[in-house]
Amino acid sequence: MFLQNIKVNGFGTFVLTFLVLFAFLATQCQGRSVNKPFDISRVRKEVQTYKDVANQIIDLSLRGAAQNQSYNRLADFTDKFGSRIAGSQNLENAIDYMLGELTKDGLENVHGEKAMVPHWVRGNESAVMLQPRFHPLPMLGLGGSIATPPEGIEAEVLVVRTFDELKKKANQAKGKIVVYNQIWVSYGVSVQYRSLGAAEASKVGALASLIRSVTPLSIDSPHTGWQDYQTNVTKIPTASITVEDAEMMWRMSQRGEKIVVRLKMEAKSLPPIESRNTVAEIRGSTYPDEVVLVSGHLDSWDVGQGAMDDGGGAFISWQALSLIRQLNLRPKRTLRAVLWTAEEEGLIGSQEYYNAHKSEASKFDLVLESDEGTFTPNGLIFGGSKNAGEVMAEVLKLLQPINASKLILGGAGGDISYFMQVGVPGGNLLNENQDYFYYHHTNGDTMTVEDPHQLNLCSAVWAVIAYTVADLDDMLPRDTTLRFKPAFIG
Ligand SMILES: *[C@@H]1O[C@H](CO)[C@@H](O)[C@H](O)[C@H]1NC(C)=O
Ligand SMILES: *[C@@H]1O[C@H](CO)[C@@H](O)[C@H](O)[C@H]1NC(C)=O
Ligand SMILES: *[C@@H]1O[C@H](CO)[C@@H](O)[C@H](O)[C@H]1NC(C)=O
Ligand SMILES: *[C@@H]1O[C@H](CO)[C@@H](O)[C@H](O)[C@H]1NC(C)=O
Ligand SMILES: [Zn+2]
Repeated sequence: MFLQNIKVNGFGTFVLTFLVLFAFLATQCQGRSVNKPFDISRVRKEVQTYKDVANQIIDLSLRGAAQNQSYNRLADFTDKFGSRIAGSQNLENAIDYMLGELTKDGLENVHGEKAMVPHWVRGNESAVMLQPRFHPLPMLGLGGSIATPPEGIEAEVLVVRTFDELKKKANQAKGKIVVYNQIWVSYGVSVQYRSLGAAEASKVGALASLIRSVTPLSIDSPHTGWQDYQTNVTKIPTASITVEDAEMMWRMSQRGEKIVVRLKMEAKSLPPIESRNTVAEIRGSTYPDEVVLVSGHLDSWDVGQGAMDDGGGAFISWQALSLIRQLNLRPKRTLRAVLWTAEEEGLIGSQEYYNAHKSEASKFDLVLESDEGTFTPNGLIFGGSKNAGEVMAEVLKLLQPINASKLILGGAGGDISYFMQVGVPGGNLLNENQDYFYYHHTNGDTMTVEDPHQLNLCSAVWAVIAYTVADLDDMLPRDTTLRFKPAFIG
């Protein structure tokens, strides 16, 4: 999960774009009950007719021939390819493999859709504390960072907790390495030290910056992630260090001890390369041009195996279609799985996909993404109109047998944000992901974090929601009430 707000060119532009697009969608999007007012009791009765099929899906995934299938497929994949950073040949090989597997699984219209993606390469890197004592610092350069000079940067450290403190101590920052020892609040709040830390340190004359890893729990492991330089601000090298080392240097600085660190990084940004979003479908029987989209991202950071972020989300999206295919079901609308590329560099693949498909936005019934873990599922975080929320609440009741009926209204995001910002209803998997950030963007993000039963449950949730919505008589209602904020939940 990348989890930073999408930048829009000013709120006014965003609102205007939304209104224009919404007016367009309102004229285009007419369900099968044209002229009939929305009637929740009719929808409720219709949704209840899906109880049997929902139970068949659940049974196939939890107890039937597909038991542990998504786990086994994900294990084969992550063990074979390991981490898959955008720009790497390894990611492209992994995409080729997926195109083959999705085809072998009997899915339809399997293909890649081109997207140009950043190509950042870490290279060798190290950080060592030289004073007050010698201590190697486990570290990971942040995505997009520049290199240090070949001999490294050796400088005194200024430790701060906040950007405000940095501004107050601006006159002490020149020529130093700034270490941010920010307190963990939540991912959404604390991640700003990763995304903006280098630019803010550069503004006060620092030579480099190190951030305390953005995580609530650490066993001395650094967490990487993308960071953003700012226009007209000198780029400086930047990396993550462990919570333990950031706190230690904070304590040393509180004692007035002089801290010296040597940082060496060989990171470089190469020209963008052509990658692909991976697409597979079950074509709709009646309205094949209308689409319910399920998704996760196939790329990962260049550490660990990218099993949790976001192998799990990508593979339950494949599994949702696979379960429907194994039951020989074909909904009225097309079910489409999209495995995004280059999510980690800032939702790059999904943005290209949106740009290529925005003229069809009125035909997108529902967009789903799982990118916050595939632990025990509870339901869905949903953004859409009030009436769409009422329909989804009925659909979620089909998941009562596995306790995954909870619907949280008001926000969803990630790669599906582009469609949601023009009024397409969207949702993220709600799951017991309180441990998610322990592993996020580290070497610890491996198959060991994943659990076969949890993946069976998540796959069933994804399949039941996607199939039912794709097969209802009408598309989900849209109205002028924007019921979500395009925020990213962490
Ligand atoms: C699925 O995984 C569970 C937990 O590891 C195991 O107990 C069960 O035997 C597995 N089922 C199959 C069909 O392999
Ligand atoms: C890292 O350094 C080692 C030895 O110092 C060298 O063999 C290797 O090629 C370097 N790797 C990269 C990516 O530059
Ligand atoms: C960056 O600097 C150039 C040249 O001074 C200026 O024209 C431009 O507006 C600046 N951009 C930003 C975002 O400040
Ligand atoms: C659902 O929750 C109930 C009550 O907490 C529990 O007894 C049941 O085992 C749960 N079912 C599943 C499939 O997790
Ligand atoms: Zn992710």
